[in-house]
Order: sequence, then C-alpha cells, then structure tokens
Amino acid sequence: MNQKKLVIRYPGGKQRILNFIMPFLLSREEITERYIEPFFGSGAVFFALNPARALLADINPELIDLYRGIRFAPLKVWEIYESFPATKKAYYEIRAIKPDGRDLAFKAARTLYLNRTCFKGMWRHNSKGEFNVGYGGQGRRWVINQEILKEVASKLKKMILKCSDFEEVINKSIEGDFIFVDPPYRPGEREMIHAHYIYLKFSYSEYQRLAKALRGASDRGVKWAMTISSHPDILELFSGNYIVPIPKGTGRKPGILTNDSGEVLVLNYRKEEPL
Ligand SMILES: C[S@@+](CC[C@H](N)C(=O)[O-])C[C@H]1O[C@@H](n2cnc3c(N)ncnc32)[C@H](O)[C@@H]1O
Repeated sequence: MNQKKLVIRYPGGKQRILNFIMPFLLSREEITERYIEPFFGSGAVFFALNPARALLADINPELIDLYRGIRFAPLKVWEIYESFPATKKAYYEIRAIKPDGRDLAFKAARTLYLNRTCFKGMWRHNSKGEFNVGYGGQGRRWVINQEILKEVASKLKKMILKCSDFEEVINKSIEGDFIFVDPPYRPGEREMIHAHYIYLKFSYSEYQRLAKALRGASDRGVKWAMTISSHPDILELFSGNYIVPIPKGTGRKPGILTNDSGEVLVLNYRKEEPL
C-alpha cells in the first residue's frame, strides 16, 4: 500500500514529487538485494516503494530513535504522544526535557510531538545539540493517528535502521542493491555551494565526498538514483550519469510548488520515461 500520510513532517521531503520520480526508480521486484536510503528523513520513497529488505540510515540520532521507537512499541508511542498537553507552554517544557536516558518509546513520542507542533516541521539544533525550533501550533498534530504508527511499525519490521554518515553506508553497498540518495540541498541557493547551509551543514566538500562514494558504488555494479540541485557546480560532480529534470517541486519558499524546481533526478542506469 502506498502510504499517503507520513508520520513526520519534513522540509525537503520527497512526498510531493513521488508521482514523478517513482517510475524512474527500480521497483520492489527489480531489487535483488537491499533497498538502501542513506539520507532517510521522512522516508517518502521507502514507504512508497515498500521493499522487501532495506538499510535505512540518517545522521540524525533523534530521527533514527523515532523510527526505532515506533517499530518497537507503536501503541505506547501513541499513548505518550496523545498525553502531551496542547499548549505553547507544554511545548517548551517538553522541548526542554533531556531525552538521554529515557526509554525509546518516550524519546520517539517526544520527537514526534516536537516535529508535529514546532514551527513548520523544521529540524534545528543549537551548539549543544539541543532541538531549538520554536512553537508552531497544534494544527498538524492530529493529522496522524495510531493506525499510521502501526503501519509504519509493520513496514519497518524487518529493516535495518542505522544512525550513520552516508559514506559508510554507500561504501558497503554491493551489486544487486539499489540506493536512493536525497542529500540536503536547497535549489538555486548560493550558500549551498560555498558554505554551510541546510539541515546539517552540507557543504560543497560533502557533495564531493558523496560523488566519490557513488562512483565507487557504480564501479561495484550498484544501481543508484539521486535527487539533487541542478546547479552546474553540483551536476559537474556527477557527470557521466543520466539526468532527468524534475518539472515541479518545492521552490525557494518551502511548501510552494513551482514549475522550475531547480532539481534533477540523476540515475546511473537507463530507465526509459514511462508513458
Ligand atoms: C533532504 S533530507 C531527506 C528527505 C527524505 N528523502 C524525505 O523524503 O523525507 C536529507 C537528510 O539527510 C540527513 N543528513 C544530513 N547530513 C547527512 C550525512 N552526512 N549523512 C547521512 N545523513 C545526513 C538529514 O538528517 C536529513 O534527514
């Protein structure tokens, strides 16, 4: 089943352009080994593809613990999530709780609550690694329900969830694996090229590291697909692959669809555009 609602809100998530990108990807049946997603985020592609085996990774430990918690005890996570009060004051109190040492279900419920009630579903941490996004309201809180958590738990049941940098994950891929790559970026923004920007400081040197890891994967016969900014400096790093412009996506203003998305799909294999 194609999951319509994702459990978390995620700026830059691929949910809104799934219809465009999915036909270019390998299907569940075509993946002979594992589906690998090294920048998991809200996992829009994973949940739509529903592969038989997967390695799902992200550098954000709170995100990985959120999925581990839901997988382990979806109903307990829901119970705690439901119990958190619906006020601005409560939001800041729950945000101030140190998650270390708490059980997995509590950590997952806290992260889910913060994600669903913070400003625009943003993820931002201060220098001490503490989540510091301000309050956004309760409007997106009850869009999810316990059925969604149960479905997420069942889809994640046999999957490997790993908190890791992308390089280690990509370097361990083998022939027969299929990797979907969606690194942090913001189409058309200069900062992306020369400085640090976006979720977790993904600078130009990170793209160089990514390009190298993906070249290694190609050499091992691994197929991969990536969504990325169409900026020439970035595209040059991935030359020699197939490039499909993405006609619509999120533009400079989060949440707004534009005709010129500034994003492309890069594939290291050929798949004809479906009719
Ligand atoms: C654009 S988001 C992925 C969105 C996802 N495809 C979706 O549909 O929701 C990029 C993700 O990369 C993660 N990330 C940033 N730097 C990373 C790194 N060095 N290694 C692995 N993950 C990283 C962020 O935590 C974020 O979740």
